[in-house]
Amino acid sequence: MEKLSERLDRPIVLVGLMGAGKSTVGKRLAKRLGLPFVDSDSAIEDAAGYSAAEVFERFGEKDFRDGERRLVARLVDEGRVGVIATGGGAFVDPGTRALLNERAITVWLDAPVEILRERTAKRNTRPLLRTPDPKATLARLAEERRSSYERAHIHIRSGHQGHGEVVDRIIEAITRHLAE
Ligand code: S3P
Repeated sequence: MEKLSERLDRPIVLVGLMGAGKSTVGKRLAKRLGLPFVDSDSAIEDAAGYSAAEVFERFGEKDFRDGERRLVARLVDEGRVGVIATGGGAFVDPGTRALLNERAITVWLDAPVEILRERTAKRNTRPLLRTPDPKATLARLAEERRSSYERAHIHIRSGHQGHGEVVDRIIEAITRHLAE
């Protein structure tokens, strides 16, 4: 069978909450497929000269979202086939979601709130989680955003298994999706 990377004509875009593993899994997936990887938060930093968290805090969520929307559109417009990890809120934006579902293969990485909390607690880099009860904030965001994330083409549940196994399952699901 032809290699998956040769059958892809569009980017693979990972969506889901903070701590779901979008960047870590995305990098490994890209490596496995021999494709370039880009993280939208890092691309915002390259463009703005501030980290995504700084843009968020200095200019506010609205400006951050506007920048994120333009940046994701630019990444998709470049037309490169690769793996893109988005920031957790990108796919919640209706315009970005429509664009990504039309021009990319979207994969929702869905992990339980306990795991999201464990992972995000390691580094205090998420402005949205600087709250008195970050776990409750994650649970609220999971609830509020579920109906957006659910619209991704592919839904991958992840838990305590290794990232390598999650990558295997994404590759299988994309292979099935392309055959549909
Ligand atoms: C956000 C997630 C963050 C970052 C920003 C807002 C969100 O990215 O874009 O802090 O709204 O969920 P990660 O999902 O990569 O942590």
